[in-house]
Amino acid sequence: MKALVTGASGFIGRELVRQLLASGVKVRGISRKPINQEKGIEWVRCDLGKPETLQGVCEGADVIFHLAANNKQDSYLVNVAATDALIKDAIRYNVRQFIYFSSFSVFGIIQDRHMPDLDQAHAPFSGYALTKYQGEQACLRNKGISLLIIRPPFVYDFSEPRHDLRLINVFIKAGIVPVIGSGNNYFNIISRRSLAEKTIALFLGKKEGIHLLMDEAVTFNEFLGRCMKEAGRKNIMKLHFPIWSLYVPIFLYENAANIFGVYPEFSIKRLEQIRRSG
Ligand SMILES: NC(=O)c1ccc[n+]([C@@H]2O[C@H](COP(=O)([O-])OP(=O)(O)OC[C@H]3O[C@@H](n4cnc5c(N)ncnc54)[C@H](OP(=O)(O)O)[C@@H]3O)[C@@H](O)[C@H]2O)c1
Repeated sequence: MKALVTGASGFIGRELVRQLLASGVKVRGISRKPINQEKGIEWVRCDLGKPETLQGVCEGADVIFHLAANNKQDSYLVNVAATDALIKDAIRYNVRQFIYFSSFSVFGIIQDRHMPDLDQAHAPFSGYALTKYQGEQACLRNKGISLLIIRPPFVYDFSEPRHDLRLINVFIKAGIVPVIGSGNNYFNIISRRSLAEKTIALFLGKKEGIHLLMDEAVTFNEFLGRCMKEAGRKNIMKLHFPIWSLYVPIFLYENAANIFGVYPEFSIKRLEQIRRSG
């Protein structure tokens, strides 16, 4: 059994590759900057933004795990056009299964702890989320291969904090953590290890269709408590910002980021998500 893993050098890709190799699956990894982390992986240097570099990468693969994505300016090219090119190539080379990593963000704003209906109308609320949804659509348009679409929520690993988790840790270290609203808003999470395990279980079970993989829904306060435990901190000061007070600063930040062509890490829609899930 041979798997082609795009985004194999990324946060989730590295764990998935580790678990695939451990279960005896041969792995060919794709990235622009292959890494030396895992022994036994065959690396192919490819840039999904340059479809010609994909030539022949699917040859000999039984399954493709397509994780590579970006949230930069060329995200349409990488997240949608390259996904379409890759699945077409997979069909040409008779690959049996195609597993596409989409995102929970394609659902848009979720009310309370309500679990979205997989078929509900989608309202992606960022450029990135929109391209992930369009990537799904590109996959669904191509017939002739077993297709599995995974929509993970926030993926974390305390042993390798990144993005929001890294920021939370900085504040914990400083002893004072800004909290948006009461901190009782819910969000869905899955650990990196669990995501890789659940993905491999679906793959081995030859599952198809759209799957929402998550461990649990937690409040921000609960998650913060876990982060503090991991950091060995018992007490911190929480600085609560009422949601209404953040609309103007976030509106200005988001617009400035868009003007300068930088991906906004926070947005009015994200604030709205926090308000509605509290
Ligand atoms: N992390 C989360 O919380 C989360 C949640 C929901 C969904 N997801 C989805 O899960 C997947 C993996 O996420 P991640 O957090 O592991 O991402 P990541 O750490 O940012 O890794 C992205 C991977 O994509 C590769 N890549 C990016 N642009 C490329 C290009 N032009 N050509 C070839 N490779 C390219 C990168 O390799 P190089 O830079 O070396 O090329 C890297 O291996 C993504 O599809 C993401 O949308 C993630």
